[in-house]
Amino acid sequence: MAAVVKVKAVATFKVTVGGLLKSLRPSNAIDNVRELIGRSLFLELVSSHLDKSGKEKPVVHSYAHKVDDDDHGVVTYEANFDVPAGFGPIGAVVVTNHLQQEMFLEDVNLTAGAGAGNSTLLSIRCKSWVQPKSGEDEGTPGKRVFFANKTYLPSQTPAGLKNYRKKGLKEKRGDGTGQREADDNPKSESRSNSVYVPRDEEFSEVKNTQFSLKTLQSVLHAAVPVAQSTILDSNQPFPSFFVIDKLFEDGVELPGVEKLNFLQSIVPRLLELLRDGPGDKVLLFDTPANVKKDKFAWLRDEEFARETLAGINPYAIELVREFPLKSKLDPAVYGPAESAITADILETQMGHVMTVPEALKQKRLFMLDYHDLFLPYVHKIRSLKNTTMYGSRTIFFLTDDGTLRLLAIELTRPSSPSQPQWRQVFTPSTDTTKSWLWRMAKAHVRAHDAGHHELITHWLRTHCAVEPYIIAANRQLSEMHPIYHLLRPHFRYTMKINALARTRLINAGGIIELAFSPQKYSMELSSVAYDKLWRFDMESLPGDLVRRGMAEEDPTARHGLKLAVEDYPFANDGLLIWDAIKSWVEAYVARFYADDVAIAGDEELQAFWNEVRTVGHGDKKDEPWWPVLDTPASLAHTLTTIIWVAAAHHAAVNFGQYDFGGYFPNRPSIARTKMPVEEPVDEAAMGKFLDNPDQAIRECFPSQVQATVVMAVLDVLSTHSSDEEYLGGEETRPWNGGDAAVQAAYAAFNARLKEIEGVIDGRNKDKSLKNRCGAGILPYQLMKPFSEAGVTGMGIPNSTSI
Ligand SMILES: [Fe+2]
Repeated sequence: MAAVVKVKAVATFKVTVGGLLKSLRPSNAIDNVRELIGRSLFLELVSSHLDKSGKEKPVVHSYAHKVDDDDHGVVTYEANFDVPAGFGPIGAVVVTNHLQQEMFLEDVNLTAGAGAGNSTLLSIRCKSWVQPKSGEDEGTPGKRVFFANKTYLPSQTPAGLKNYRKKGLKEKRGDGTGQREADDNPKSESRSNSVYVPRDEEFSEVKNTQFSLKTLQSVLHAAVPVAQSTILDSNQPFPSFFVIDKLFEDGVELPGVEKLNFLQSIVPRLLELLRDGPGDKVLLFDTPANVKKDKFAWLRDEEFARETLAGINPYAIELVREFPLKSKLDPAVYGPAESAITADILETQMGHVMTVPEALKQKRLFMLDYHDLFLPYVHKIRSLKNTTMYGSRTIFFLTDDGTLRLLAIELTRPSSPSQPQWRQVFTPSTDTTKSWLWRMAKAHVRAHDAGHHELITHWLRTHCAVEPYIIAANRQLSEMHPIYHLLRPHFRYTMKINALARTRLINAGGIIELAFSPQKYSMELSSVAYDKLWRFDMESLPGDLVRRGMAEEDPTARHGLKLAVEDYPFANDGLLIWDAIKSWVEAYVARFYADDVAIAGDEELQAFWNEVRTVGHGDKKDEPWWPVLDTPASLAHTLTTIIWVAAAHHAAVNFGQYDFGGYFPNRPSIARTKMPVEEPVDEAAMGKFLDNPDQAIRECFPSQVQATVVMAVLDVLSTHSSDEEYLGGEETRPWNGGDAAVQAAYAAFNARLKEIEGVIDGRNKDKSLKNRCGAGILPYQLMKPFSEAGVTGMGIPNSTSI
């Protein structure tokens, strides 16, 4: 038997991945010398076994030499090792970067034997940045452990790797002594153009390029109509519906960019891109999908109602469970709690087919309740210029054909020291004046819905709430932990897109505050909603539906739920996805945990969950509703919820934003003028409304600047990158250790998702499903798992990444 085995390691680095177009090719003098003498990259092979006395075996080490630097951005290093016989299986490779710059390590492949006929020993997919080693001290960065792609629960870690597993986690967590930058005041946040993102959470270059290109394109779009306006007044409404339609035509010339300087306060980075743009000719906005189908859909009540079930905010509609409706706010502050929506009003609108008590009993009444959420902000927002605000309640009736009929809208201004409470109920009418008031009331509710959607359904419940899972998983789960492998694809780019959002969208003075009805109270409102509404156990799809009364548990029903509205496209398609994720996760959990004891005894898993609850969601750490990870079922349910939120919930509320909101009359982000009938009535405004209600509604809609900026942003946010990774897709097929049970479960997951695509296509063609199929109706495709790149209105990426 040979005393040594020749082992060759080939390490592949990418020079163009990682964003900011940073080249990783060694270029400075010191690095060049290091390369010449072959001292740039140091590799150590770690045995999985201990020696006979129970100690770690000495590592086998070697410097690697650069052997190839092709023009396609791939740099290859090779190292040769003499591995003693009896070394045991290689369980990890330690990589030390002695260059002066970070390197993106793609993979390391180990082969045994020299020359032709080498056999592969190990393939490690690293996909991670290795920072330069700055000193001789063991503790300095630059040394990274990459484990063989085989997963182990902590208790099953091969003996030789136990310390490496612990050290690897400790290094990722740091020792808590890191210092804030000098100008970083921990008690307050100051405006900054950069938000820290851990290195491995950055966009790949493909994503970066796509995002920038799309942004550039969109900002050109946004800038044009503004530039065309002769009066550069940011409050200017659109002069006519014709001008709104013109936004969707091609080939308008862009005047000199100097005239757009005022845009700099809104989108400074974008303006820079604009300067480097391709010239004067620009393309305008694509026509949104709903307008292509039916240009006048935005005017129709039935479309308003349908979008609560099959639009981009299907998370707001709820069952009316008591009547009369009553506010939970303090009447001493806000005025009488009882709603002005009476049984008489509703019964008239229902055509007296039944009484309100009967409708309640039959679960036929539904509502959008934006009353208690917005009422405390009404006077604060009204003190700002060029805007107004109400609390609102909107009531729907479930008809015999399964569709919702819009019955009434109540708008409320709470009492204030100077004014009593004002509220009025608006209804559809054959009286033309009332009919226009009805349209204006709808515009207000839609603006409330747009704010609720972006700040709560979208930002808070997906982008924001996923961050604690990401941080805790990276800090507490070793890279060899099976649950880390399961969750990792669902965290892709979330930290990065959130950092971008924090610098451009939700920041003080950012686009959300500029253009959405809660204005500068936007983030405050989001925080209040987190405080009052967010609970982990209600973030699962079944939990959310039951909470809103849109479903009740029924073991005999499909998915165990009976829906209150049978044709609820988001819920019906979403439950298919929920169940598919659940089956995959249950199979995965079953593969790694034999019983309850294995779960309770997994210290990394418990530390992860503990950190999510007590640190990430620290404000809610004492809530009784947190699941305890003590059985395979509770673990699977918890993980299914996390994956559902990061992937499917986000997709449902994200990728239709341009389709439904691009034509802003359908979804104005803000309603800026009071109802002309609000008391005390402004006679001049009332006169103008009666004279030209078309103009009055355009003045209520977002200004030209607000509308175009929002359109540009919705366009970017609705776009799938060309490197998108979809739920259950090939790109994230788990490959660790060639585990047959995991492979089979993933294959079944993938097959099920493909099957679901077909089921959804079938449903969209089923004429009996009137909430998703009919004249001029956009088919409901947001829960279709796969998509092409671009704005497609379908596709569920693994993670919240745009
Ligand atoms: Fe998003």
